[in-house]
Amino acid sequence: MVPKISTLGGYIFEYQKSVTNPTGFWSNIAESFYWRKKWDHVLDWDFRSGYTNWFHGAKLNLTENIFERHLFFRGNQPAIIWEPNDPSETHRTLTYSELFTEVQRFSNVLKGLGIKKGDRVAIYLPMVPELVIALLACARIGAVHSVIFAGFSAQSLGERLQDAGAKLLITSDGGFRGSKTIPIKQIADDAMNMCKCVSTAIVLKRTGESIPMVDGRDHWYHDLMKDAGDTCEAEEMDSEDPLFILYTSGSTGKPKGLVHTTGGYMVYTAYTFKNVFQYGDGDVYFCSADIGWITGHSYLVYGPLLSGATSLMFEGVPTWPDAGRFWDIIDKHKVNQFYTAPTAIRSLMALGMDWLQNKSLATLKVLGTVGEPINEAAWHWYHDHIGKNRCPIVDTWWQTETGGIMISPMAGITPTKPSYATMPLMGIQPMIVDQNGKQLMGNSVEGNLCIGYPWPGMARTIWGDHERFVNTYFTTYPGLYFTGDGVKRDEDGYYRILGRVDDVINVSGHRLGTAEIENAINEHPLVDESAVVGFSHPIKGQGIYAYVVCTHFSTGGEEGIRNSIMMAVSTMIGPFAKPDKIQIVTGLPKTRSGKIMRRILLKIAEGKTSEFGDITTLLDPEIVNDIVKGAKEV
Ligand code: WTA
Repeated sequence: MVPKISTLGGYIFEYQKSVTNPTGFWSNIAESFYWRKKWDHVLDWDFRSGYTNWFHGAKLNLTENIFERHLFFRGNQPAIIWEPNDPSETHRTLTYSELFTEVQRFSNVLKGLGIKKGDRVAIYLPMVPELVIALLACARIGAVHSVIFAGFSAQSLGERLQDAGAKLLITSDGGFRGSKTIPIKQIADDAMNMCKCVSTAIVLKRTGESIPMVDGRDHWYHDLMKDAGDTCEAEEMDSEDPLFILYTSGSTGKPKGLVHTTGGYMVYTAYTFKNVFQYGDGDVYFCSADIGWITGHSYLVYGPLLSGATSLMFEGVPTWPDAGRFWDIIDKHKVNQFYTAPTAIRSLMALGMDWLQNKSLATLKVLGTVGEPINEAAWHWYHDHIGKNRCPIVDTWWQTETGGIMISPMAGITPTKPSYATMPLMGIQPMIVDQNGKQLMGNSVEGNLCIGYPWPGMARTIWGDHERFVNTYFTTYPGLYFTGDGVKRDEDGYYRILGRVDDVINVSGHRLGTAEIENAINEHPLVDESAVVGFSHPIKGQGIYAYVVCTHFSTGGEEGIRNSIMMAVSTMIGPFAKPDKIQIVTGLPKTRSGKIMRRILLKIAEGKTSEFGDITTLLDPEIVNDIVKGAKEV
């Protein structure tokens, strides 16, 4: 059993142990898992070259730690409860033993199609149980999965398929999302036509609409599963063999395929899941994140299932058929721990209290948030009206790169403070540095957040580009992992995350690179150049503000251009990346060396009309006045 801390004293004691003797600490946690062969030594690392190796030489298969390890006691316990988009459709429950059978059958399907250890399998599916089955089947046979969020466009999907060199794509005819139906297969077809690597597709029937199937390439999931064998021996993996690639946005336009490996990720996600949420036997845990993002990977699938938990997955959206949907699900399935994003809380809060009428929420014990800073008003609303003043909130700070939660209260143990992620978890050594890389010691300090020592769940590289991995995370502050976030450590030593300090913005909990959006906008034939910044948005956390230079207009004028820019971003990235505001400008504030002064654009996007600091170095300082004037009309 993975150890669970239950008191504040226990936390302080374990934390001290974990930082004074990290290898001893983690090898002790790792002992509670099943390894085919134990490690020769615990850790090798060198942050300067971005190299980390946990549980060196150990052999295992992660799925044996979900199934074989739990089956005896938990065979009949629900592993996954699936709540469909439409509440009138019956929900599905898969026990550990049923899920195991499905995973083994699908493992055999993949093997039958020639997928071997190390091959990349891409997954572009809505939130259905087969998505979990697909992930675990890949892990069972040693294939590296790469899930692409089903909101991404064909272009984005195609780029990721190509970058990962995916051989096979698992997708569906369509998907349901609130009142909408998404043409998943059509998008997948366009993406597969764009890349050269995918030779096989498996298509799940979900919406039942008629779709074209390409002979020799496309196979129906149900046809393949019909004849598949029920048992499949797990492939033996090295602790450092890749488990998955997950793409995320960075400062440059090209998304990064972060690679997570097997042993360390397993130990870290299971340990943090159990301790942060204080999951207890028989609890029902509901994480509302999509499996297309890291939260879904680590805290809907791997962390909970490795812990023998019952994990609830939801296909739909919080506001359909009405804004009481989350609360209905919590009451219907007697949910004990609920984990969601601040943007969802803010949007439900804005819709008023009527949607909470007649909802009991009495089973809730723990509430969690993730993905972006939570403002105090939203924290209190969540605490008072959802948690009824009795459920601790765990504000969990972490990243795709970190694999698991890094700074967070442990529910009911760490005293909380609204909008503070509070204290580091075991083994995590946060450091605050100033612009010059000087470490700021003591309390009441603010600066950039770095981590000074490896932890088992961290990403190991960027797929196909280790140099970029080193440059992005390990060169700004040599010897430290740089998170890209600003942070404050208050007078009590509590951490509050202040948001990104790089060119990444966080829109409704979705991480987007400003360069990525600019690239999409610049594809438009009438656009000369553009600059994108984030601005404070009451619901989304950050909104997208695009300054666009167009010197020629076609029919439709400015409005026509705005609409077609929206289309271009939808096509290049996905509808969730559409700018909230587009301002057509005659030029951008550039220095003589041609660098865009983003701080001015940021201020204008926040509604400022003066106090831009020194603008004398601008090539054309007048441009600032023009932009300020134009901003009023946006
Ligand atoms: C932000 C999501 C404040 C942060 C798990 C980070 C947060 C980025 C929090 C990673 C939080 C995540 N409080 N900010 N509790 N959690 N963030 O990779 O800026 O999608 O760097 O991982 O989200 O986003 P990602």
